[in-house]
Amino acid sequence: MFRWLRKPKNEAQNEAAAAVPAAPQEIDVAATEASADGEAAAASDGASVLVDTRPPIDTSIPLLTVTGVERSFPVGGQQLHVLKGINMELYPMQLVMLKGRSGSGKTTLLNMIGGLDQPNRGQIMFKEYPFHECSDDQRTYIRRKEIGFIFQSFALMPLLSAWENVELSLRMAKVPRSEWKPRVTHCLELVGLGKRMHHRPFELSGGEQQRVAIAKAIAHKPSLLLADEPTAELDSQMGAQVMAVFRDIIRTERMTICMTTHDPTIMEVADRVFEMVDGKFISH
Ligand SMILES: Nc1ncnc2c1ncn2[C@@H]1O[C@H](COP(=O)(O)OP(=O)(O)OP(=O)(O)O)[C@@H](O)[C@H]1O
Ligand SMILES: [Mg+2]
Repeated sequence: MFRWLRKPKNEAQNEAAAAVPAAPQEIDVAATEASADGEAAAASDGASVLVDTRPPIDTSIPLLTVTGVERSFPVGGQQLHVLKGINMELYPMQLVMLKGRSGSGKTTLLNMIGGLDQPNRGQIMFKEYPFHECSDDQRTYIRRKEIGFIFQSFALMPLLSAWENVELSLRMAKVPRSEWKPRVTHCLELVGLGKRMHHRPFELSGGEQQRVAIAKAIAHKPSLLLADEPTAELDSQMGAQVMAVFRDIIRTERMTICMTTHDPTIMEVADRVFEMVDGKFISH
């Protein structure tokens, strides 16, 4: 069941297009000092100072472009055509959702977008990288730097604490050790787990475990976060929390998120929803 992700396309981009000013980093001195527990601080009394030294992101340039992608698998001596010509674009800082019946090809597409699999036909451009032409090693390298994955079943190391799970991701991404502590702290606070940093997965609720998985997936600062049914095992309240965290991540970390879901309530918060039917998108 280790099938990974794929993703859809979107377009709501042109709306506020052009160089949207970078989402400001909130530097709230009072909150920082007071927030010893590190819970993601909802801005306090308006005393925040908004400072952003990051360059703006041009949200009119796609982060990822999928063109005419087809994927089939040999099954019982025949080819099973799963993706039959997918076209899509993902733009920076978008929340994009893929929906479709079980077996319609959502995970297959997510895997493709994340560079875990390659199309039989068509092209996938992620930033300047042509995933459809890259070797396994090249895609692995790009993935480690640029892409984060979240799975329905959390995929946490059971014996490691939340902190250690996130730290592991930085170690694997070869992030310098000196950066681990502030980044792990930041990511766990961002997902609202400042008070649960040293809990192990079995000492956390399902929603909390999923938030650790999110912190783990964003720790190395990917530009694209792919999530395959990240709320499927959560109740509606926890699912809503995860979506709120996703929104925060898009704003503060400036990532694009592409996820699959079956839940119509969850889809309401998407910037764009792609519906897959019989290996193609039917609605944009
Ligand atoms: N490696 C493979 N070999 C053979 N068939 C495969 C392979 N991967 C996927 N398929 C088939 O492709 C189809 C689409 O699978 P996929 O997992 O992408 O669907 P899905 O939309 O994610 O479904 P679900 O909502 O149940 O997760 C399925 O019929 C599946 O059996
Ligand atoms: Mg799936």
